[in-house]
Amino acid sequence: MSSSNNRYGLRRSGGQHGDVFTSPEVVSYMLDLVGYTADKDLSKVKILEPSCGEGEFVLEIVRRLRDSSRRYGFDFGKALLDNVFAYDIDEKKIETCKARLAQDDIHVSLDANIRQGDFLTQQIPAVDVVVGNPPYIRYEQIPQDQLSNYKQLFHTFHYRADLYILFFEKTLRSLRPGGRHCFICSNRWLKNEYGKKLRAWIAESFCLQTILSLEKAPDAFQEEVLAFPAITLISNASPAASFTFAEVTSIQQLENVRGKKLPSPQSSDWSGVFNSIGSDDTLLTIEEMGFMVGIGVATGADSIFIAKDLPGRVEKELLLPALNARDMSGNRLHWSGKYLLNPYKPNGELISLDDFPMAAEYLLFHREALQNRYVARKNPGKWYKTIDRIVPSLKDSPKILLPDISGNQLIFVDEGKYYPQHNLYYITGGTIRQLQLLSALLMSDYVKNQLLNITNCMNGGYPRWQSQYLRKLLMPDINAIKEDLANRLLSAYHKFDLNSLNDVVDTIVSYPRQKSLRKRTSVHQLEFDFSI
Ligand SMILES: C[S@@+](CC[C@H](N)C(=O)[O-])C[C@H]1O[C@@H](n2cnc3c(N)ncnc32)[C@H](O)[C@@H]1O
Repeated sequence: MSSSNNRYGLRRSGGQHGDVFTSPEVVSYMLDLVGYTADKDLSKVKILEPSCGEGEFVLEIVRRLRDSSRRYGFDFGKALLDNVFAYDIDEKKIETCKARLAQDDIHVSLDANIRQGDFLTQQIPAVDVVVGNPPYIRYEQIPQDQLSNYKQLFHTFHYRADLYILFFEKTLRSLRPGGRHCFICSNRWLKNEYGKKLRAWIAESFCLQTILSLEKAPDAFQEEVLAFPAITLISNASPAASFTFAEVTSIQQLENVRGKKLPSPQSSDWSGVFNSIGSDDTLLTIEEMGFMVGIGVATGADSIFIAKDLPGRVEKELLLPALNARDMSGNRLHWSGKYLLNPYKPNGELISLDDFPMAAEYLLFHREALQNRYVARKNPGKWYKTIDRIVPSLKDSPKILLPDISGNQLIFVDEGKYYPQHNLYYITGGTIRQLQLLSALLMSDYVKNQLLNITNCMNGGYPRWQSQYLRKLLMPDINAIKEDLANRLLSAYHKFDLNSLNDVVDTIVSYPRQKSLRKRTSVHQLEFDFSI
């Protein structure tokens, strides 16, 4: 398979899905945890980083190996070539990783050790240590052509597994007896359905040593995108009676982590562990329910691309009704009548101005201002492109629209009439009814209180919606709400009756909690619950 800079699509920040680089403090902590420290003779310790990115782990590994070689007098270059292995699918990141090593005075050719390719399909060596931060790629984003192959290769690929599950399986299988495995990763697999087979396999065949929750430590990564990270340490040894659970609220606390011993899980049901630390495994994030969170289009020149008088000035087929936060104030949605000029063809390429004489005249009239935008200076041939691509089907999709800052208590569902601008977040991916149910949950005090806990970013008592916070919210699965409660919730939503809405939400959130307590009483019941 060839390298891909954009295999799983891009996030709005410009980064790729699956890319979140680990903070240096976390890298050091994890290498200490697996015992890869320079005070030891590392000359024969084989170590693997399966998705090295720009080399956060690799650099520290190589520095430690060099320090160890100085202390123990072994040949650093040979030890490096014999023992350090890394992979990444993205050639550019590998180049950056190698350039960073060269800046660090490492001039050994590492072409055989740091390889480009899909790690999941590579032949890999048996190793003593695995460390890393595997890619988080949701099931829907895994390329279709790979899904069936991966399903054959990995017995822990279950339900709608995220790609990182497969990285766990492949790397755990590469461990030599006694070998240690430490990943920083989303903690969702520890609790949810898609992590079930991996949990069962680890409980039976490995020794779970440590789970360190970083759920409340926003600084674990160089960018705050992953909602619920955890570090796990697992070794290739027989299961032990207990493991250590710890939690930190900032990576500064990694210097002095104190954990408590808990009984090791015996099966796929690890809920006892989370029971004892007080979390609720029945709640889901918006994305886990199958919705997508996005932000509206940034053009770089709103006064040119978005205006009321565009009809009549440019061809009709290039226009989309545009909605922004100002159109949604005072708990009312009132479209201002502005249109967005979409300069893209359905296949995502820019239109040719020869094909649209009216748009050509309009855009050429504004050429100077458009060319002065950063996005156009970077790409002068495409001077009339917008910062973000415009995908007209977004207009037609039912979606929740959330102004970044608003004084609204009502959350709007657009049935498919408008294209959101950059001061609106949107949630798509469900029917109008599902989106209305989700809106009702988002309007509840239950969610407001979570937002207050996650961030102080409230705007005079009203939520400030931002995608990183939206992604962290935990809610009862709207698809599992009982019919009568769902109808009551919708009725409260439509009447904009916040008291009733909060009452219904309180009833709903207490229902799954009772259910999860029941589930925790027996594995058998847990399996039954999933099958209904
Ligand atoms: C979460 S980033 C972590 C990067 C680095 N380990 C760190 O901690 O900073 C995940 C990395 O996985 C890489 N990746 C994604 N799919 C991959 C695959 N199938 N095989 C190997 N690497 C992959 C991405 O290019 C990205 O660099």
